[in-house]
Amino acid sequence: MIITDTHFPDETIELLAGMESIAVLTGAGISAESGVATFRDKDGLWSRFNPAELASMDGFLANPQLVWDWYQYRRGIIDSVQPNPGHRALAEMEELFPRFTLSTQNVDRLHQSAGSRKVLELHGNIIDNFCVDCRKTFEFPTGEIEEIPRCECGGLIRPSVVWFGEMLPEDVLRASDMAARQAQVYFSIGTSAEVFPAAQLPLIAQNHGAVLVEINPHETQLSSVADFSLRMPAGEALPALVERIKQIRAAQ
Ligand code: OAD
Repeated sequence: MIITDTHFPDETIELLAGMESIAVLTGAGISAESGVATFRDKDGLWSRFNPAELASMDGFLANPQLVWDWYQYRRGIIDSVQPNPGHRALAEMEELFPRFTLSTQNVDRLHQSAGSRKVLELHGNIIDNFCVDCRKTFEFPTGEIEEIPRCECGGLIRPSVVWFGEMLPEDVLRASDMAARQAQVYFSIGTSAEVFPAAQLPLIAQNHGAVLVEINPHETQLSSVADFSLRMPAGEALPALVERIKQIRAAQ
């Protein structure tokens, strides 16, 4: 069912309000209303930058300084923005349901800034860094380091994001997979659902009996299989959903 405004049917909200186990996958779209560019929209990062150069180990080894500069540029943007009502509504949802798991493909840490307590970062994060040789981890103040830093062992230091061709952190993927299998409702929010294995999670959930809800102003690969497709920005849909759930619970 496609829903294009926030007048969600009462029966749907009543059903949702009574659920015990919710799992969520977010993508770049949830941060769009904070001013962070997505990847595959018309003006997205991958229309302006080359992922092979900037988001792969081969690209990094070919030009480490270029890759470092790009991540410093993105850190600068992320440092200057705030979580939006969509992030905040998800933080509130964590408190409303007995079992709630939030998996994100985003590296911007805006879910945590909004108050989400437990966030499974499938693609790592842009704040931490590690040495490609000895794996020691580092956190630097944003913007202060122009030249790519080196570890005391001599190795190059790179951001702790998952690049193309790399494995996702095993424990994070396992926990996300488990949550998908156990969810009664699975939300896919602000993701084009094109990058695997993250894109598999909503389908795993649905195959295990979850109601699949997509929130995205545009149609994606997932839209045709989603049980509910909320065609609107996450910053509008999520606060409205949370408000209605609270109203229904209060009236019960
Ligand atoms: P994409 O850029 O592929 O997709 C973003 C989605 O967000 C699109 O489907 C938009 O329609 C939707 N969108 C835009 N504004 C929105 C809003 N206000 N509310 C809800 N949805 C909105 O980003 P991801 O799916 O996150 O990987 O991309 C997945 C991965 O590809 C990223 O994690 C990144 C990238 O390569 C790595 O960097 C490893």
